Amino acid sequence: MNIGIIGAGNIGGNLTRRFQELGHRVFVANSRGPESLAALAAETGATPVSVQEAARSGDVVIVTIPEKNISDLPRDLFAGVSDNVVVVDTGNYYPQQRDGRIAGIEDGMVESRWVSQQLGRPVVKAFNNIYAAHLLKSGRPAGTPRRIALPVGGDDDRAKSVVLKLIDELGFDGVDAGGLDDSWRQQPGTPVYAADFDAEGVRRALASASKERKPEWRAKSGSKAAKTD
Ligand SMILES: NC(=O)c1ccc[n+]([C@@H]2O[C@H](COP(=O)([O-])OP(=O)(O)OC[C@H]3O[C@@H](n4cnc5c(N)ncnc54)[C@H](OP(=O)(O)O)[C@@H]3O)[C@@H](O)[C@H]2O)c1
Repeated sequence: MNIGIIGAGNIGGNLTRRFQELGHRVFVANSRGPESLAALAAETGATPVSVQEAARSGDVVIVTIPEKNISDLPRDLFAGVSDNVVVVDTGNYYPQQRDGRIAGIEDGMVESRWVSQQLGRPVVKAFNNIYAAHLLKSGRPAGTPRRIALPVGGDDDRAKSVVLKLIDELGFDGVDAGGLDDSWRQQPGTPVYAADFDAEGVRRALASASKERKPEWRAKSGSKAAKTD
């Protein structure tokens, strides 16, 4: 499969490593341009590209950049890209540590719904609740007891099935977590977040999540607005 990855940091870098190992062709981009990705390309065999090329090179395109930078992406990023291309959002909103205030999310929009709106495309939410290091190292063959499971949220069952299959290839069980508007159940601060549960544990954790955003996951009063506002 051809996989575009926008963002080459902790998550984007490790997904590049794993997907290349698995035999997929990765086209990876960051904010500083393809030349700055020479080391990752040499290490993995991935093709460094511009952000626009990454969006146009994949059967699946994974957007994995800080939430506050989503609105810096080109407005027409996915213009002309086939609706069959699956767009994945790995993002988390960290208002106090990194992102500042994003009004839409503070006003109650589910994080991935906000990202989808910014990108002008449906997204599948995945990989947001596992540490990058575990994504790289903790994959196990199907059937391994207590294999780590990852929730996958989204409104399009075909798109979710593509992502669930990739997750299995990476060495994790995928759990269908329902539609995108239910994906608050896997946001930061929920029971499933960074917990490395198996499939049964993920289902239990999703069911027991509470929708209220905890104070530590809200912007502080007076905190700087992200550029989107
Ligand atoms: N770290 C984790 O364990 C983890 C786990 C699950 C989910 N997440 C979430 O996944 C997302 C990515 O996290 P991360 O830890 O991988 O971030 P990171 O290590 O800080 O890397 C961010 C990447 O995004 C790129 N980037 C930033 N702005 C961009 C833009 N406008 N256009 C293109 N590329 C841009 C950066 O490129 P440059 O370096 O060239 O600026 C960098 O390659 C975040 O929302 C995070 O909360 C992280």
